[in-house]
Order: sequence, then C-alpha cells, then structure tokens
Amino acid sequence: MYENSRLIIDSSNIPDAGSITWRSPSNIAIVKYWGKYGIQLPRNPSLSLTLTASCTDTQLEYTLKEGNLDGKIDLDFFFHEEENEPFKIKIVAFLESLLPVYPFLKQLKLTIRSGNSFPHSAGIASSASAMSALALCLCSLEDTLFGTLKESAVFDQKASYLARLGSGSACRSIFPYAAAWGETSQWKGSSNEFAIPMENHLHDTFKDLHDDILIVSRAEKTVSSRAGHALMEGNPFAAPRYEQARARFSTLLDAMRVGDLEVFGKIAEDEALTLHALMMSSNPSFTLLRPASLSIIEKVRQYRADTGNQVYFTLDAGPNVHLLYPGDIVHEVRAFIEEQLEEHCEDGFVLQDWVGEGPEEI
Ligand code: PMV
Repeated sequence: MYENSRLIIDSSNIPDAGSITWRSPSNIAIVKYWGKYGIQLPRNPSLSLTLTASCTDTQLEYTLKEGNLDGKIDLDFFFHEEENEPFKIKIVAFLESLLPVYPFLKQLKLTIRSGNSFPHSAGIASSASAMSALALCLCSLEDTLFGTLKESAVFDQKASYLARLGSGSACRSIFPYAAAWGETSQWKGSSNEFAIPMENHLHDTFKDLHDDILIVSRAEKTVSSRAGHALMEGNPFAAPRYEQARARFSTLLDAMRVGDLEVFGKIAEDEALTLHALMMSSNPSFTLLRPASLSIIEKVRQYRADTGNQVYFTLDAGPNVHLLYPGDIVHEVRAFIEEQLEEHCEDGFVLQDWVGEGPEEI
C-alpha cells in the first residue's frame, strides 16, 4: 500500500550523511494474534498494552553513496556493539523486501547499532521492540530526506505498517499505552496492514498498569512464533478460535473504556491459556509452558482469592508469566512475588515493566 518509486534521492540539497536514534518498547497482547496469512496479516484483531522497560534502542546512520539503483542493500550491523551476522542477514532481507516502498535505501550506506534494555537471552522476545525501533528510524529517515511524513498520525501509521512487515506484533508497539491491530467492523479505521492507537479510548486505570515478567526460562523457544502461526492453518480449532478472538476483542474494548479491570483480567487469562491450548492442539503439537509456569498461575489464582487484589496473568508464546496489576497495589504484589513466585523463576529473575508512553526519538 505504500509502494512509491518516487522516493529516490536526486537532489543535491539533501544532507549526505546523518544519524537517527529511536527507543521503542515491547508490547503485551491481551487479545492475542495467533494465525496469519499473506505477509504478516492477522487472522483476527488483537489488542495490546505498550510496555516501557523492555525496549530496544536503534541507531541508524546513513551516508549517501555513489552508485546506481541496481545496487544491493549496503549494511553494517552491530548488536550490543558487536557485529552480528545472523541478525544482519535478517535485517538485510527485511530492507530488501522494503525496496518497493523505499527504493532510496539502495543509494545509502547504512550502519545500524541496536541493543536491548533487558539482558541478552532473558527469555524475552525482542522482535516487537527491535522491529518497531527500526521502522521508526526508517520513517524518520524518509522524512529527513523527503519531508513526506510531517504529520504525526501519518508518520505513526507508516511506522506501524513497516514494523508489521518485520514482525507482526511489532506494529502495535508504535503507540502509547495501547494499540489494536486487525480489521474489525467494530472499529472504524482498523486495518490488517497497521495498528491503530487506542489511548483515547482507554480508562485511566489502564494507563497505570504494571506488568512484571516472571522469567521461568531464559532458553530460546523450541518452536518459533513463525512456525506456531503456520500450524494454525491445520488446527481444527482455528475457525472457532478466530470467532472467539473477535468476541473477546469486542468485550475487551468495552471493559477498557469503562475501566473494568475484572473483565479485562478474565480476558487476559483466558486468552493466555487459549494461546497455549492452540499450541497443544496443533499438529504436530508443542508445549512451551513449563511446570513452573503452571505453579505460578495456580499461586496467582490463590493469591487473588485470598486477598481480593486484582492481579492477573498473561503469557506470550513462551513459558514466562506476565503479571498485570494496577499501580496502587505495587508494594503488596512485589512482596507476593518475592515471597512466593521468585522461587519458580530462573535465578529468581523478574523483569519489572509497566504500561507507558511508547517510543521516543533520542
Ligand atoms: O509477532 P509474532 O509473529 O512474533 O507473533 C507474536 C504472537 C504473540 O506474541 C504470541 C501474540 C501477540 O499478539 O503478540
């Protein structure tokens, strides 16, 4: 939808070198995206909260290069200050796929330096923060070179679109507090191509949510989310699942508008377990949950029953458990985590995160 052969550098008044840096966070889906078609197009709408502490900083340096437009992407890539060939290969492939949108990329010598705020191999997927940070850098680059993305809504939509092409869920990280992705008749302007901001439809309760991530395992996933999405194509529960996600999306929108934390929490937990049930009912089936994930879930339910404190769990495509709760009970919940849950975490590792204002240019 953004293909544009006119984005070619042909003027001498363009700065011939420069640097752009963005910090972009991860996000946690409450209604999950699981199942896709085409190029990262979702089978159902999803809704996520934008996190803060789990983020990626990406610096994009560019120099105008002598050469012709048949050239290849010319990239040096550093991850945490070190050259990283596997990441470089992925990013070159991504940038090559963007050439119909950004033909000028071939006219530049690019250097990307990227790093995550969370420890390497923390068991946390960084594709959402990394791909959104890179997409934002590319949009800033477009605007610097051509002045075509002056309006912030236009800028954000294109950044979300580009991020999606890199990693589906990354498209939701562009926006503050919360974002929705996927076409639904319930929301005018919703799209499969990019996410949309939900901040203005959010009760203040949801702007003050914590998400402490209990790291059950730092190990890399045994099944990638790409493979997991693909297995949905043969899953016997796929069609009812997509219907269910649509219904939950609608209920969640209402709950988030009026500030109903209980309904929100129920959907978060139901979606987490549904996601893993879909993995277990795929063919071949796979299990990413660990016994410790289940022990944490049981304890969270018990804690909620005992104290009435509104603490809810959710899961990503992995064994680590996210605990969602409002800011006013942070001290009690942190004590609960320390006393009862840290023992289930690898080296007692908990990553404290919270809902936040989204990416920033730095
Ligand atoms: O963006 P991907 O392709 O890594 O898929 C992520 C899917 C989940 O994280 C499991 C759910 C979601 O909506 O973020």
